[in-house]
Amino acid sequence: MIQNFPIITKLEEWKKLIYHFDRIKDIHLKEYFSEDIKRGKNFSVENEDLYFDFSKNFVNKETIGLLISLADRMELRKKINNMFSGAKINFSEGKAALHTALRNFSDNPVVVDGVDVMPEIIKMRERMKVISERIRSGTWRGFSGKRIKNIINIGIGGSDLGPRFVCNALRWYSDRDINVRFVSNMDGTDLSESLLGLSPEETLFIIASKTFTTSETMTNAKSAKEWLKNSVGNSKFISNHFIAITSNTELASKFGILKGNILKMWDWVGGRYSISSSIGLTIMILIGFDSYILFLKGLYKVDEHFKNSPFNMNIPVLMALLGMWYNNFFNFNSYAVIPYDQYLEDFPVYLQQCDMESNGKSVTIKGERINYHTCPVVWGGVGTNCQHAFFQMLHQGSRIVPVDFIGFANSLNEIGNHHKKLMSNLFAQSKALAFGRTEQELIGTGIKDDQVPFRMSLGNRPSNSFIFKKLSPLTLGMLIALYEHKIFTQGVIWNINSFDQWGVELGKEISNEIFDNLNTADHIRKTDDDSSTSGLINFFISSQNSE
Ligand code: F6P
Repeated sequence: MIQNFPIITKLEEWKKLIYHFDRIKDIHLKEYFSEDIKRGKNFSVENEDLYFDFSKNFVNKETIGLLISLADRMELRKKINNMFSGAKINFSEGKAALHTALRNFSDNPVVVDGVDVMPEIIKMRERMKVISERIRSGTWRGFSGKRIKNIINIGIGGSDLGPRFVCNALRWYSDRDINVRFVSNMDGTDLSESLLGLSPEETLFIIASKTFTTSETMTNAKSAKEWLKNSVGNSKFISNHFIAITSNTELASKFGILKGNILKMWDWVGGRYSISSSIGLTIMILIGFDSYILFLKGLYKVDEHFKNSPFNMNIPVLMALLGMWYNNFFNFNSYAVIPYDQYLEDFPVYLQQCDMESNGKSVTIKGERINYHTCPVVWGGVGTNCQHAFFQMLHQGSRIVPVDFIGFANSLNEIGNHHKKLMSNLFAQSKALAFGRTEQELIGTGIKDDQVPFRMSLGNRPSNSFIFKKLSPLTLGMLIALYEHKIFTQGVIWNINSFDQWGVELGKEISNEIFDNLNTADHIRKTDDDSSTSGLINFFISSQNSE
């Protein structure tokens, strides 16, 4: 049932936060730290795998209490339980959002429309196991009898970004004889470059699309089929070379994929939350069943933490409240995510979809237009590379960008002292951002007076730090679930539906209309496009093959 909340800015809890903000907004992080010499410990959460430090934020205990009161007022606990138990919280589409069931290792049933979905989930995992083991062991053969060496995952959005990120992140745990590539872009360059040098008889395509209608994926899938057909010369190949992951089994069959090669995706999994569904097949092929289960267990571990921990010790809830505090009170309009691990280079992009497609909304769950900001821009890159790209702006720019630093205590590729140097950079950036360098500190270091204004850093730039013991399937699963639940929590507080994406749908619809028109010689006479769009299209049409 849709709750009838007053707009959040009218809530007593919100007003208290405004009052509190006015009182503390000018306090420098240095003051917070000098007032409480144990602040680092007092504002951190530690468990066996992770140390989460949120002390370098503009908060005191009272702030956290007030933010939690707002979360309580928005019935966060009840809404967490609703999500986990299969309530149809995706109101605009009448669907549950049950990604947590896919990594539920408890004995508890999860019921959707009166049916416990757990037996089906376990069965699906077993099917994935059989397929992945056949490919890994070489018993799955291509049309000529050769074993499969190349896996091409064709998908986009949630059917691409999650497996792409995880496969890259867990490369260290992978079977290096299997070559996994991801094709997502409609641009023919993506498919062409990905197929370059591959032998069709050793190549398996996984067509990952929940709907099996997404234009990019279907266009690439059809061209992949042609590529294979041209090399084999007949159509018998398809059963050895195509797997579909979809909830639209009918369309996958029509495409020509054998029933036994179709893995089901459920309607109650959103694309951007589908990493623990059959969409993870590519990951399982690469790292094996046992490691994949550990990955799911990492997600589950954080699910349990999120469901059961008090909010003042609950990492995703704290992440969400801090993000909201900056977004809605300090008016910071973006946050950066900086993993200090080369394996996590795709994490910021993965997160962009998960966060911005979920919470980039402007109406409440009841459809009322809202008068406060929702999702900030998410961006980032891998440390230390981005220190030499955009960190100047983070240190001394006119805008403040809160940062999430992510690092690992142990490296998977220990070479000399690389790792200690790498992590020194992480610790140093968060310290420099928070405390800066004052005029007094510069004077007496031999720096000329006229240089001081340029070299001074005011500091007072907030950040969180996440230090995991080691990058593993388990900790990677944990990391993903932390952000998934942070995003969910913010959606609850902003009172929006984090599980639909009608804006993206509009973009798709208009592209289809325009595509139909691009095939006509005289665009202007046949459409009612605005003068800008038709100008662009006309230039495109008249420049075809004219170079
Ligand atoms: O980007 C819009 C979207 O619908 C995503 O939510 C989804 O992950 C992606 O397109 C791909 O959709 P599908 O898996 O149905 O091809």
